[in-house]
Amino acid sequence: MKGVVLAGGLGTRLLPLTRVTNKHLLPVYNKPMIFYPIQTLVDAGIKDIMIVTGGNNAGEFLRLLGNGEDFGLKEIHYTYQKGEGGIAQALALAEHFVGKDKVVVILGDNFVQGTIRKAVEDFERQPEGAKIFLKEVNNPQEFGVAELSGDKVVNIVEKPSVPISNLAVIGIYLYDNAVFEICKTLKPSARGELEITDVNNAYIQRGTMTFEVLQGWWADCGSFEALFRSNSLVAAENGVRF
Ligand code: DAU
Repeated sequence: MKGVVLAGGLGTRLLPLTRVTNKHLLPVYNKPMIFYPIQTLVDAGIKDIMIVTGGNNAGEFLRLLGNGEDFGLKEIHYTYQKGEGGIAQALALAEHFVGKDKVVVILGDNFVQGTIRKAVEDFERQPEGAKIFLKEVNNPQEFGVAELSGDKVVNIVEKPSVPISNLAVIGIYLYDNAVFEICKTLKPSARGELEITDVNNAYIQRGTMTFEVLQGWWADCGSFEALFRSNSLVAAENGVRF
């Protein structure tokens, strides 16, 4: 199983913090943001990792991470996304790296409290398809939102104005190799991006999508509020009390 960390995009929602650096290099408590998703992959037993980055500060990732010594890795692979054509466009750039393997994709601004190791092991045994993680949130309109019927996800809507549930699709996705064929069929959304939600809906249509409800907290850094919350949660995890 390969791992891909998506750290492209221009981080425009966090301007001016992102004027002179990449969003994923900003601090979250005592480490740069990108350290956390890399650690999540390593803790899940994944050692073959590619970082997809972009923008004007891509070289800083190499300076910061090198060959991954901080994580006990022998090497880290890198590739570059021009512009910000969407999460699925960034993922498609990892096709040659993933080869015929399955892949765990994690957004470079997403944090989970616990380990995803068991879900990754379960997915190794899943004959085909994909697996996503859902988490109850108070603000579902800011995320991809899942509609369940019985024990199945039947649809995902990206940032719905009227959410059908409060179950957000978090930014960790487990895919078989079909994901790269699916990426090639996508059309840009209204916001001009190739959407990961369209990839997930393609797996739902094929009947090969499974899901888990995540235990423990989950956070992202898509807005100032979310970045602040991530800092608070990680600091609390490290024993900080204000
Ligand atoms: O955080 C979870 C949410 O992430 C999901 O619930 C949504 O379904 C999913 O679309 C995504 O929503 P956002 O609109 O918040 O994603 P954002 O544009 O902030 O991108 C998240 C990360 O993905 C970003 O930190 C880096 C990576 N990315 C994003 C874009 C647009 C890239 O690598 N390249 C890109 O072009």
